[in-house]
Amino acid sequence: MASAPSASLGTHLEVDPSVLVDLDVDSYDSSSAFVSSTQSLSSSVDQYFFENGRRYHSYYGTEKNHMPTDEKEQDRLDMHHEIMLQMLEGKLHLAPIGDSPQRILDIGTGTGIWAVDCADTYPSAEVIGTDLSPIQPSWVPPNLKFEVDDMTQEWSYKPDSFDFIHARNLSQCIDHWDELLSQIYLCTKPGGWAEVAELEAKIHTDDNTMAPKFEKWMNSVAEACARINRPTWTAAMARELLEKAGFVDVHVETRKQPFGPWPKDERMKKIGAMVMFTADAGAEGYGLALFTRVLNMSAEESMTICKGASADIKNKNYHVWSPFHVAYGRKPTNTADKV
Ligand SMILES: C[S@@+](CC[C@H](N)C(=O)[O-])C[C@H]1O[C@@H](n2cnc3c(N)ncnc32)[C@H](O)[C@@H]1O
Repeated sequence: MASAPSASLGTHLEVDPSVLVDLDVDSYDSSSAFVSSTQSLSSSVDQYFFENGRRYHSYYGTEKNHMPTDEKEQDRLDMHHEIMLQMLEGKLHLAPIGDSPQRILDIGTGTGIWAVDCADTYPSAEVIGTDLSPIQPSWVPPNLKFEVDDMTQEWSYKPDSFDFIHARNLSQCIDHWDELLSQIYLCTKPGGWAEVAELEAKIHTDDNTMAPKFEKWMNSVAEACARINRPTWTAAMARELLEKAGFVDVHVETRKQPFGPWPKDERMKKIGAMVMFTADAGAEGYGLALFTRVLNMSAEESMTICKGASADIKNKNYHVWSPFHVAYGRKPTNTADKV
């Protein structure tokens, strides 16, 4: 029988006593220097503006996505994809979609890196990745295409048209998960699958080494998201939303994502190290605009909180992790199959 993943929720993540990593916090990327002006550069779908040193996309308005879309964020997203892959032992998803799916949709695809890997993995499938921002590459597998689309508007896809619909790391962008999941359900083929993978905005420690500045950052992110009606994703919420949408055979798997290379387990150490390398970009990417725009903090105060979080993540004395929930369910094939 296969053993449980080393990061499953019931496992105590053991600390590697030999961990000696303290990165130089002063090496903070100075390209994020404050710029207080907001500048509109173009009137096309590429429309973007700079705020506090980061570039944000604005074609659909500024409130849909409070995360930057610049190269620093794109590099972070690509590294984060590798982290998520490692969290799932190299798998792109957990839903049992079979070997030859015909149509797959990845909503909020970001740089499209998951969709590219998915198109390579399933040459039988036509894969579509959608996003508000056209930040995807143009050289992609022939069975993949990207579309600019707002997933919170009514979808133009035919009902019952996808074998698999995938959504990852979107909870900070979604006001009405129930409406989104209804559209996902409608467009999934009977017998097809949907999967939503989200990191919960909460940190835990198994050995009383809570990272105080990182916790402050995480609580501030959660507070800002709650204020704009984008509550953090939990395992219970995942199950309830998928089942309410009509999915059956709903599974929710929760794993521990470590921050920093402190775990003894080799795979978890690698994950934690990659998370540490994205700490500056992640703290700023998730936090900066939420803190200034939603919590009305000054740019300086926001940056202090972001820098505090990344410093804590690099501190070998703090051993913290967040729950990563992967939820998937199947659209019933007939009414008798429905719960
Ligand atoms: C944190 S990134 C996650 C990217 C990708 N899913 C991944 O896991 O690598 C969130 C993405 O969702 C996109 N997004 C946010 N709101 C959206 C919306 N209403 N419609 C489509 N995409 C959206 C953003 O532009 C961004 O690329």
